[in-house]
Amino acid sequence: LFARPIIFTKGCVSLADLPPMDRVEIAFAGRSNVGKSSLINALCGTSNLARTSNTPGRTQELNIFESQSENLRIVDMPGYGYAKAPEPKVKAWTKLVHQYLVGRATLRRVYVLVDSRHGPKDNDLSVMNELDKAAVSYQVVLTKADKPNSADVEKALAATRWSIAKRPASHPHVLLTSSEKGTGIKELRTEIAMLLAT
Ligand code: GTP
Ligand code: MG
Repeated sequence: LFARPIIFTKGCVSLADLPPMDRVEIAFAGRSNVGKSSLINALCGTSNLARTSNTPGRTQELNIFESQSENLRIVDMPGYGYAKAPEPKVKAWTKLVHQYLVGRATLRRVYVLVDSRHGPKDNDLSVMNELDKAAVSYQVVLTKADKPNSADVEKALAATRWSIAKRPASHPHVLLTSSEKGTGIKELRTEIAMLLAT
């Protein structure tokens, strides 16, 4: 699946810009700077497909990537939280993200990225609540596992598992990843391949 090129198709600033619902879609959501674009690059085995930055608020559109070999579309999204950009802009893209997440029929799964140093924050929990309410499938992925020490990773894993355990719908197991070191990337590729197979 990831052996053949994945290409950037377009950036969307409104729902009207989105391509037709003709492919299986997966989307990457999470706080600004959590590592969404970096994880997409790691999955695709490149460093520059999705643009990344140290400054929160790098991704400002719904960026669409498509597989050359499979019926798969990958959506990189603006982050929520503390983006360093003008407020009206942040408001506009937050609305777009929410509309997309709860209203897209071809959206098969959302990967909700959470920083492994902190575990889920309030805005992560409210996105998870919204997805549960809209019956959208999601899997939580801890990012930047190379940064915290192992005790803190365990704490974040426990907090994350706890936050999904008490939910009405069941959710796949929590993945631990590092785009920098390649941790968990194969596992995530397998998860995505399994989604396409079912
Ligand atoms: P926005 O588009 O602004 O919402 O951010 P994003 O979630 O797409 O984050 P991005 O991928 O741009 O990464 C943010 C910063 O974190 C960059 O400086 C990355 O190099 C860094 N980063 C991402 N993943 C990892 C990781 O696994 N380990 C480490 N150490 N740094 C990472
Ligand atoms: Mg980004």
